[in-house]
Amino acid sequence: MTKRAISTEQIHHSYRAPEGWNAIPVGVFKASTVLFKNTSDLHQVRTPDGQTYRYGLHGTPTSYTLAARLATLERAEHCLLTPSGLSAVTLVSLGILRPGDEVLLPDNVYMQNRLLSKSMLPEFGISHRFYDPLDAAGFAKLLSPKTKLVWLEAAGSITLEFPDLVGLLQACKAHGVITAIDNTWGSGVAFNPFEIAPGLGADISIQALTKYASGGADVLMGSVCTRDLALHEKLNRMHEHLGYGLGQNDVELVLRGLPSLLLRYRAQDATTRALAAWMQARPEVAQLLHPAFAGSPGHEYWQQTSSGGAACLFSVVFKPEYSAAQVDAFVDALELFGIGYSWAGPMSLALPCELGRSRSLSLPIAQGCVVRFAIGLEDQVDLIADLEQALAHL
Ligand SMILES: Cc1ncc(COP(=O)(O)O)c(C=O)c1O
Repeated sequence: MTKRAISTEQIHHSYRAPEGWNAIPVGVFKASTVLFKNTSDLHQVRTPDGQTYRYGLHGTPTSYTLAARLATLERAEHCLLTPSGLSAVTLVSLGILRPGDEVLLPDNVYMQNRLLSKSMLPEFGISHRFYDPLDAAGFAKLLSPKTKLVWLEAAGSITLEFPDLVGLLQACKAHGVITAIDNTWGSGVAFNPFEIAPGLGADISIQALTKYASGGADVLMGSVCTRDLALHEKLNRMHEHLGYGLGQNDVELVLRGLPSLLLRYRAQDATTRALAAWMQARPEVAQLLHPAFAGSPGHEYWQQTSSGGAACLFSVVFKPEYSAAQVDAFVDALELFGIGYSWAGPMSLALPCELGRSRSLSLPIAQGCVVRFAIGLEDQVDLIADLEQALAHL
């Protein structure tokens, strides 16, 4: 071969890494273009299954490795990765629902899922209704031939009611309706979304990997897991049309987070319960919302469903004599807790929540201002001391 210019050599250099390189981390393979050996190779039909590659948008060995590990975590067969938890939600609703269909959502569903159903899906001729996740009998009455998708969330957002998953799933099964669970709270640890009771589980489990799977508060990503191949292929079709792609450096960060997921989940669970118990005993607090605590809405369903684990979230309802401004002053006075969205990262967070606009049905909680706490990896003694000094500002 003739001697080539340095610029050409920077792209066509002959050095190749040796076959058989072996280390614990998965390599970060990035690509838009995937090179074919020749034109005959180009003309081969390829399915995006992690064995053959066509274009970087559909995945690289790095993202297929993450998808395979998540399918294992969720006890699923198939997994699609998406650029955020919200895009996983959107993929499921757009992938399943068609004009004339109806979707049912729990009243405490993640806010952006609610907004998608309320403000965007009607433009596609798709209607929605909200149900009480604690009332399976009332829910069963809402199911109709139009119902094509039921969202489940355990525990629900902010008020953390744990749904009657067995009752809800039995009703869906009797009607042959597809069920999708937002399993971010359980994260594949608290319960098996596909086997809530023997022979009874959701058809689809989505997660915001942004939370526990990453654990670093530095990545946005989502997953959509299924056991049924036909359902996976249906969702994959929409996934391809939406052009969802992932940055492989972000994928690597989630791959780094996964091995410690169980340890972090358990550690954060323990600190969360200690803080929740401490807050519950405070005279300023009217009600504690955490499904592992007796008296929290849906506690008995959590006992029935969960392996004993719970996520790092709890909310408190302050007594009605405390105004929103006073509760804001308490949150502002916290020194270790950040004020912000998301959860399951290293830093604890506190979020005053206005529930009025975000619920359609009556709330099973006391009157008063609500603050949601997401507990991180700080020491429990320091966090309690911080809560105590901030409560003086109420
Ligand atoms: C229960 C739940 N599902 C989905 C999401 C969306 O995740 P993301 O922020 O990655 O879009 C969130 C985010 O807060 C969430 O709490």
